[in-house]
Amino acid sequence: MLKKTDPQVYSLIREEAKRQKEVLEMIPSENYTSTSVLEALGTVLNNKYSEGYPKKRYYQGNVVADKVETLAQERAKKLFGVPYVNVQALSGSVMNLAVYFALLEPVRGKIMGMSLAFGGHLTHGQPQSATGKFFRSVLYTLGKDGKLDFEAIEKQAMREKPDIIVCGFTAYPRLIDFKKFGVIADKVGAYLLADISHIAGLVVGGAHPSPAAYAHIVTTTTHKTLRGPRGALIMVTEKGLKKDPELGRKIDMAIIPGLQGGPHDNQTAAIAVSLREAGKPAFKKYAEQIVANSKALAKELTGYGFDLVSGGSDNHLILIDLKNKGVNGAVAALALEVANIILNKNGVPFDTMPPFYPSGIRLGTPAITTRGLKERDMVKIAGWMNSVIEEVRNIELPKDKEKRTEVWRDFRREVVKNKKLLAIAKEVKSFATKFPVPA
Ligand SMILES: Cc1ncc(COP(=O)(O)O)c(C=O)c1O
Repeated sequence: MLKKTDPQVYSLIREEAKRQKEVLEMIPSENYTSTSVLEALGTVLNNKYSEGYPKKRYYQGNVVADKVETLAQERAKKLFGVPYVNVQALSGSVMNLAVYFALLEPVRGKIMGMSLAFGGHLTHGQPQSATGKFFRSVLYTLGKDGKLDFEAIEKQAMREKPDIIVCGFTAYPRLIDFKKFGVIADKVGAYLLADISHIAGLVVGGAHPSPAAYAHIVTTTTHKTLRGPRGALIMVTEKGLKKDPELGRKIDMAIIPGLQGGPHDNQTAAIAVSLREAGKPAFKKYAEQIVANSKALAKELTGYGFDLVSGGSDNHLILIDLKNKGVNGAVAALALEVANIILNKNGVPFDTMPPFYPSGIRLGTPAITTRGLKERDMVKIAGWMNSVIEEVRNIELPKDKEKRTEVWRDFRREVVKNKKLLAIAKEVKSFATKFPVPA
C-alpha cells in the first residue's frame, strides 16, 4: 500500500533496508529485530488509547489492550525472574527518569552513577540530562586499568550517601559484578538500580550474570541485545519489594500520570513477541555467540596493535583507544563508514579530547551475530578495520578549534572519494550481503 500512497517514504524505507543489508552494522546498541516483531509494530494496536494500566484504564475499549499488556508483563517477569514489571516506558531515557521520579525527592534526592566520559549513560545523573538537573548527582569513574574500581566506588558511596546507586553501562566491555554493587548499596542504605539496557539479551541468554538477586530495580531497553522493538522495561525485584512493598505502584505512578500519557500498545505487543523469542533455546545460543564473536574480534584487533580499553571484552562490546595509532575517533568512524563498517566514535577513560572528536571508537557484535557471523568472520573484519585505520593515519586533527574544523571539513569532503576505502567497501558489501537480514 505504502508504495502507492507515499512512494517517497516507501523508497526511503527501501533505501534504509538496502543500507542495513550492505554494511557490517557494529554499533553495540543496535540490532536486527525479527520480522514478527516488525509485524506486531505495524498493526492496528497503534490506533488505541489505553492510558492507565490493565483493568484500570481511563478510556473504554481496552479489553484487548489489557490482554496484550498483561501478556508482555507476564513474559518479562518469567524471563528476568522478577515479581513486578512495568512495560510502558516509551524508551530508555524515560524509563530511568521514572525510577528517579518514583524514588527521589525532587532537588534533594541524590543519584550516584557512572560518568558519561567513562561509559555511563546520560540518564545516570549527567549534568546535561534532566536526571542531573532535577536531582543532585555524583559520578564515579573507572580505575586506571579501565575496569570498575570497587574500593573507590565504595569510598565515594560512603562519603556521598546517595539515595540511588546506578550500575549497568553504555560503553563498558567487561562483566559487571552486581553482587559487589549490591553490598555497597546495602551498606549505605541506597537503592541499587541496575540498568542492563546493553546486556539484557546476554543476561536472559545466560551469557552475563543477572542482577535480579542484588538490585532493587532493574531497567532495560528492549531494542539492543534483547532484539525487540524500541521500548523499555522497569522491573522491581524481590529485594526491591522487601525494601519497599509499594515500589511497583510508585513506578507505575511515575510513568503515568508522572511522565507519559497513553502507552504504545503496538510497541507493547512487539515487546511481548521479542520476550517470547528471547526465551527460546536458540536465543541462548545467540547470546553465547555474541560474546564468542566479541572475544574473537578483540583478540584479532589486539594482534594488529589496537589498544583495547581494559585489555579485552567479556560481553558484546569493544572500546578502542586509538591514541597509539595517532588517529582520532571521529576520523576513524567516518573512514570506516565509507568502507561500510558502521560503528561509533567514543570517548575513552581519561580522554582529553572533546566529545565530538573523542580518542576512541566503540563497536559490538549483537547485530552481526544476528546475521549469522561467527568467529572466523571476525578475522576478516579486524583485517579490514586495520587497513582502514592505516589509510587515515596521516589525518591529524589540530588542537586549535578553528583549524580543526577546517581539517575536518576537508577530510569529510575527500574521504568519500578515497580509492582504497572504496575498494574495501566493495569487499565488505559483497561479504555482508551473503548474510541474511530479517525484513
Ligand atoms: C545504559 C543505557 N540506558 C539507557 C539508555 C537510553 O535509551 P534510549 O536511547 O531508548 O532513550 C541507553 C541508550 O543508549 C543506554 O545505553
